[in-house]
Amino acid sequence: MPPAVVRCAEVGDRRLLALSFDDGPGDWTEAILDLLERHDARATFFVLGRQIAGREATLRRALAGRHEVGNHTWSHVRADALSETELRRELERTSEAVRAATGVDCILARPPYGADAERFAAVAKRIGLAPTVLWSVDPEDWRESSSAAIVRSVLEDAHPGAIVDLHDGWGRTPQSRQPSVEALGELVPALVSRGYALVTVSELLAA
Ligand code: NI
Repeated sequence: MPPAVVRCAEVGDRRLLALSFDDGPGDWTEAILDLLERHDARATFFVLGRQIAGREATLRRALAGRHEVGNHTWSHVRADALSETELRRELERTSEAVRAATGVDCILARPPYGADAERFAAVAKRIGLAPTVLWSVDPEDWRESSSAAIVRSVLEDAHPGAIVDLHDGWGRTPQSRQPSVEALGELVPALVSRGYALVTVSELLAA
């Protein structure tokens, strides 16, 4: 039985690592899928329900490419600002939108800002979303850091079993994710050359 909230995985000396992308699908998701495909790498996308309309094909493409789609709520509100009923509705609406777009059920969930994670996990689990997934490597790409800073941060902190938090969309304030896309173009080959296999979060947790 895995813990209710995970930040990384125990994989011994197996060099497995999970890239994750939050707040999409967005204008940068297709470019990220292109890059991942080029290197035969897998990732996990924690999507916002409100972002799905008009981007259903992007979600289908991600799943067809053996990436994973998780639930990041409908509107990116901190869980501690919501009643249990409101939080549950945020999650249910998003899972319904993913299912309608792809025919696939979300398994994993991630709380916006990582906030109130234990309570979020309890509510998510009651509607079949478990575990709740945080991260162990945080390059803070949401600050629109330079791509070089993102690359440096991830490569410094990467470890077997790591879950890396990146962004292909935005939570509250519209921002460009071009630095994240550019960083990924360097990161994926750099991680592969360091011997890492890039897998989905569920694959990492099952290892
Ligand atoms: Ni987010």
